[in-house]
Amino acid sequence: VNIVYATSEAVPFIKTGGLADVVGSMPRYLSKKKYKAFVFLPKYQCMDEKYKKNLKFVCSFYMDLAWRKQYVGVLESTYEGIKYYFIDNEYYFSGDKPYNMIHEDVEKFSFFSKAILEALFYLNLKPDIIHCNDWQTGLIPVFLKELYKENKFYQNIKTIFTIHNLNFQGRWNIQAIQDATGLPEYVFTDKGIEAYGEANYLKGGLVYSDYVTTVSPSYARDICTPEGGVGLDGVLRSKGNHVLGIINGIDYKIYNPERDKRIAANFDKKDLTGKKKNKKELQKMLNLPEKKETFVVAMVSRMTDQKGFDLVNYVLESLVNDLDIQFVFLGTGENYYENSLKYFHNKYPNKVSAYIGYNEQIAHKFYSGADAFLMPSLFEPCGLSQLMAMRYGTVPIVRETGGLIDTVEPYNEYENTGTGFTFANYNGEELADAIRYAYDVYNNHKKMWSNIVKRDMESDFSWKASARMYEKLYESLV
Ligand code: ADP
Ligand code: GLC
Repeated sequence: VNIVYATSEAVPFIKTGGLADVVGSMPRYLSKKKYKAFVFLPKYQCMDEKYKKNLKFVCSFYMDLAWRKQYVGVLESTYEGIKYYFIDNEYYFSGDKPYNMIHEDVEKFSFFSKAILEALFYLNLKPDIIHCNDWQTGLIPVFLKELYKENKFYQNIKTIFTIHNLNFQGRWNIQAIQDATGLPEYVFTDKGIEAYGEANYLKGGLVYSDYVTTVSPSYARDICTPEGGVGLDGVLRSKGNHVLGIINGIDYKIYNPERDKRIAANFDKKDLTGKKKNKKELQKMLNLPEKKETFVVAMVSRMTDQKGFDLVNYVLESLVNDLDIQFVFLGTGENYYENSLKYFHNKYPNKVSAYIGYNEQIAHKFYSGADAFLMPSLFEPCGLSQLMAMRYGTVPIVRETGGLIDTVEPYNEYENTGTGFTFANYNGEELADAIRYAYDVYNNHKKMWSNIVKRDMESDFSWKASARMYEKLYESLV
């Protein structure tokens, strides 16, 4: 069975968030006997040189896209046994980051989506399933059913559309999208890709695909309600039982405290000496007092509204004033959040550190060196950071939303169970209470704390179980 993955990012080639981790790892954990996986990516100019130089040219052709004739180059690379194809076009992919202004991105990903379909033909690669991810590839099922339905090569190809984040929908005005896609007018209606007067790529993916999945069961439920549906809950409900939540895994080879070369010292659940060393090294790297008893709370995150930074801003100062605590932040994002964290960093240099930047190696040092990991998200389709933290024995403190509900079991002091600290409502007081509670257990109930750490390190969020679930879905479709 041939599965083609269409995605705007995948590790190790290009990453802005969890989507890259997921599409870059899951295909490798499918049964090799039954499945052949191919991943299609844009050939971004901003990709790391070490990957770009290993791409091999395969073919090129010109493609009709509305009134344009566009160059499409196809390059390939094999990584860990998976074949990756890169769609080349300098005009679209020469930016200094994968995404830019939405009005440019909609045309760019219209091109990308159609180019994948055409490339399949030139490569004579006939997939059983095209597995699309997020709005950037939402037009693939639309093109397939509207523009290629008469073409024999494309018959019987099934499509799956996976929602990693429903808040990004790829919306733009209908006129411009007609122009960018060449799709017939009737597609731009309520039954097609129109929503609230605009063209909506993600809606296209939902309506035209054979099956919709998202990245956790709780988020799957949330998005079918008016509160969580970001305007598309009606469309999602109309898919009936063709909406499935499959929890993400993480790559246990990359995130492995016993082997990880990016951290100062390796460790395992039986011997946490290495973890203590990582904590000390983290404090040292960030110019924080190297105090081993101090409770270190980390965040590694895009700094956006989704991730709960307004709550953090609200509670940080009182926690820092009351407790023997250090907060360490790694991330980039909205200026407002970057600046407020820099402000706290300067005001409390012994207790707050804000590392503004994107850096994989430092991320691993945060996951392995901190005592607790904070994720007070407003919404969270799945979340991978809390899984990475748990893998390194760093206790998550999360809000009960989406995938965070499905992956973090609230600590129960009476039964000595649970893997983290949770709070329900999106409000600063509840977040502060959760942090204070964790702080208390860490300082005053050390045995209980180490039990939580142990349970975190024993929990299994590898791809083992979830890859089987995708296989089952694939089997049901072909
Ligand atoms: P999202 O995809 O919504 O950003 P996830 O938790 O699913 O959230 O995945 C985020 C991924 O991006 C994780 O692999 C995390 O380690 C990584 N990440 C986020 N910010 C940074 C950063 N500043 N530096 C390095 N890695 C980061
Ligand atoms: C999105 C979501 C995140 C999820 C990731 C991978 O970026 O925000 O919750 O883990 O996709 O599916």
